[in-house]
Amino acid sequence: MSGFSARSDFPRTPNPLAQALARHRARGLPLLDVTESNPTRVGLPAPATGLLAPPGACGYAPEALGLPSARHALATHLTARGAAVSPEHLVLTASTSEAYGWLFKLLCEPGDNVLVPAPSYPLFEHLARLEGVETRPYPLPRAHGFGLDVDEVEAACDARTRAVLVVNPGNPTGHYLHEGELAALADACARHGLALVSDEVFSDFAWDTEPSRVATVAGRALPALTFALSGLSKVAGLPGLKLGWMHVGGPQPLRDEALARLEWVADTYLPVGTPVQLALPELLAHVPRFQAAVLERVRGNRQRLLKARPAGATWDVVPAHGGWSAVLRIPAEPGEEATCLALLDAGVRVQPGYFYDFGGGAFLVLSLLPTPEVFAAAVEVLARVLGEGPVSPRTA
Ligand SMILES: Cc1ncc(COP(=O)(O)O)c(C=O)c1O
Repeated sequence: MSGFSARSDFPRTPNPLAQALARHRARGLPLLDVTESNPTRVGLPAPATGLLAPPGACGYAPEALGLPSARHALATHLTARGAAVSPEHLVLTASTSEAYGWLFKLLCEPGDNVLVPAPSYPLFEHLARLEGVETRPYPLPRAHGFGLDVDEVEAACDARTRAVLVVNPGNPTGHYLHEGELAALADACARHGLALVSDEVFSDFAWDTEPSRVATVAGRALPALTFALSGLSKVAGLPGLKLGWMHVGGPQPLRDEALARLEWVADTYLPVGTPVQLALPELLAHVPRFQAAVLERVRGNRQRLLKARPAGATWDVVPAHGGWSAVLRIPAEPGEEATCLALLDAGVRVQPGYFYDFGGGAFLVLSLLPTPEVFAAAVEVLARVLGEGPVSPRTA
């Protein structure tokens, strides 16, 4: 179609699962939604909304990298959690997604590419495409628990690769980066002249302790330019407030140049609202209460899922260590889509692995955030439907 860019031409035809869901809803049938990952809809603690009208909320100080008071509060918060960071190396954005957009502008010419993990969070392809950038997947081998294999990363590089994206812990795979993997990855990035972009939005949500786990790349002396991304969306369960951040690290000349250029990018948009920046110290004070509630919720729901699995079942819960999701390996027959449709027919909504570019088997993805009542009822149905074996779902 003339007059529009090719990169804004996204497919708009709903896939078979979306169509079946629309029919299910149109019939007014009950639904146990185990894809719900919006933290504001599942009965978790929220801060008082009065926080968002602090004195000065209607003022305007156009500080491109963020208000110094907000960056200072954030640096104190991150340092208290073990990453010794300085406020000058923090850049505030409206969201992590926006931070990706800024990084692709900073690092890539149109037609360059960035390496993205597979399986992983599906938005990367869209975020890159909107900046004229391509994504090249590097596999997270299942044999390695969907953890990082640096040889696979290097094999995916070509002459136009500019950055490696890691999601730590993986979404939805829940596998953390380990110290040896980070050291090898940072070395490979330095050798190839690539930036390392570490998405740490779920990093605070570890379910257990692992000795060599990496919580963040921020505040470390690494040989490559590094960006650690996170935001209130997951850290405080407040996606609607639109405040994210990135920490810029690595060798000083590279880091300083990146910060100077990001200041220009940020100054062009100035997207972060004043009220949320002024409220940041109080919002960060709410984080421990929110995170304790999330951890209780996801640990409890994971136990419910493990308990619902009968001994000798043909499906398994994939081992993981953190995050908000659970991954199930299911039989290749009837496969992901038919199983999702059969579950929907039985009143349970889950996601197929192909949404996350799994491959190499059949998988389902469940959110661990729903209330215990919804989750327990859903996994009972799930165990029954999966126990029935090959199914022929009613799709009309
Ligand atoms: C791995 C990962 N990164 C980034 C985001 C986006 O976060 P934000 O709301 O800060 O844009 C999400 C949202 O689900 C995510 O799962």
